[in-house]
Amino acid sequence: MIQTLKQWLTGYTEDTKPKDEDRLHALKKGPIPRHVAVIMDGNGRWAKKRGLPRIAGHREGMKTVREIVRAADDLGIQSLTLYSFSTENWKRPKEEVEYLMKLPEEFLKTDLEDLKRRNVRVKMLGQEEDLPPHTQRAMRTFQEETKENTGLTLNLALNYGSRTEIVMALKRIIEDVETGKMDKDEVDEQTVDRYLYTAGQPDPDLIIRTSGEIRISNFMLWQLAYSELWFTEVAWPDFNRELFYQAIMDYQQRSRRYGAV
Ligand code: IPE
Ligand code: IPE
Ligand code: MG
Repeated sequence: MIQTLKQWLTGYTEDTKPKDEDRLHALKKGPIPRHVAVIMDGNGRWAKKRGLPRIAGHREGMKTVREIVRAADDLGIQSLTLYSFSTENWKRPKEEVEYLMKLPEEFLKTDLEDLKRRNVRVKMLGQEEDLPPHTQRAMRTFQEETKENTGLTLNLALNYGSRTEIVMALKRIIEDVETGKMDKDEVDEQTVDRYLYTAGQPDPDLIIRTSGEIRISNFMLWQLAYSELWFTEVAWPDFNRELFYQAIMDYQQRSRRYGAV
């Protein structure tokens, strides 16, 4: 029986599991998205289902973060964006927000050395000044320590809101026009790109959202114009390398037309 690539890559038992390097090799024969962005959702519900506090879901979700960063790097993806905290998430209970704000420091402690070894560059997308000082410090250290790296760009979208991002870009464009740095007639789509947090990076080719919600939640509204969208019912703490490969494989089957035929 001829196995399809998909069956071979994902439909295995422990005994027939292909080696990861073989799976990577097979995936790399197809187009690899340059930029993958992930709306990591479902931590709270994952915890609730197990009778645990919501923060237990966030703690578990960190394990998935570590696994997916490595999978993206192994695949040779250029940019990976992880939506970690939205401008709307401040509405959550104080203890939950406090816990989430500690995670960048945790991540720094556990992962900085390995990320440096992997030549990963960490960037923050979002309004830094509203974060607690300890979180700002962690994000600065991450960015400073990895700024010369030339491998995977890992964008942590923290206090990120796409509408805020667009308003900020608009204000700065207006300022530059008013001060004569730029002519109004020069403003085009590329100009807008340059004023967003994601300046210099490709638009996401693929956006993944976990936990069964089929919405965008104020994420990359400008950049997603032609992104392929991929949704799964699986909650973020249960998401893993295999499901990530599946999303990439599905992406490889999509026909991207950009309005043409
Ligand atoms: C995603 O999980 C993490 C963040 C938004 C910070 P949630 O915390 O939104 O989990 P659910 O959606 O309540 O299950
Ligand atoms: C989106 O998830 C934000 C992040 C993943 C950080 P939410 O859980 O905040 O989104 P909604 O409220 O369900 O739209
Ligand atoms: Mg949620």
